[in-house]
Amino acid sequence: MQIDILTLFPEMFKGPLSESIVNRAIEKGLISVELINFRDFCHDKNKQVDDYPYGGSYGMIIKPEPIFEAIDYIKNKRKNLIKGKEFPIIYLTPQGEKYNQNIAKELCQEDYIILICGHYKDIDYRVREHLVNREISIGDYVLSGGELPAMIIIDSITRLLKGVLTHIESAETDSFQDKLLDCPYYTRPREYRGYKVPDILLSGNHKKILEWQENKKIEHTKKIQGGLN
Ligand code: ADE
Repeated sequence: MQIDILTLFPEMFKGPLSESIVNRAIEKGLISVELINFRDFCHDKNKQVDDYPYGGSYGMIIKPEPIFEAIDYIKNKRKNLIKGKEFPIIYLTPQGEKYNQNIAKELCQEDYIILICGHYKDIDYRVREHLVNREISIGDYVLSGGELPAMIIIDSITRLLKGVLTHIESAETDSFQDKLLDCPYYTRPREYRGYKVPDILLSGNHKKILEWQENKKIEHTKKIQGGLN
């Protein structure tokens, strides 16, 4: 899977892309990530990406030209991968559809994704109207830009790709995969500082253990979400 990210702050991605599961996926060639600084597509001498909003308001708006041009550049570079097909061009914004595990599962089927990270107040609406085909929010709060949301999306889809996790069952039993939050897990030692692992998990009765885990998932989901949908 190829993921291209348009950002003004490519350095922010260094840590998340160079550690843990995402890094392993990159090293195995299962995903490839290119960071495109769309400031490079500004032609004025100061390389200014933003400007005042028409009609007046607070904050600055990212101009359309550098984003349109960066997308032209990257689409041309990926033309053999795109082959005239539709693919997600996603703008990260608190105004988008709320991200969840179902969207992660949908996106992990794609061969190619572009993520656009905004900054400042917003981007010129023509980018959203004419370039972008999906808008995603990672929650009802406002961040300084789309970089952290982009990292969250990359992490959540990477772990669903075949060959990334040693045990894909681990992703399949994660919270949300079946609409339930996950159950508690314990490991050795059996007792730590007087805190014991529940007897049932040591019983060797596989059927009873599965029942216990299922009940814990339901109990926890009800507690956190106030009921099942
Ligand atoms: N950019 C700023 N806040 C955001 C959010 N909550 N989700 C996605 N992109 C954002």
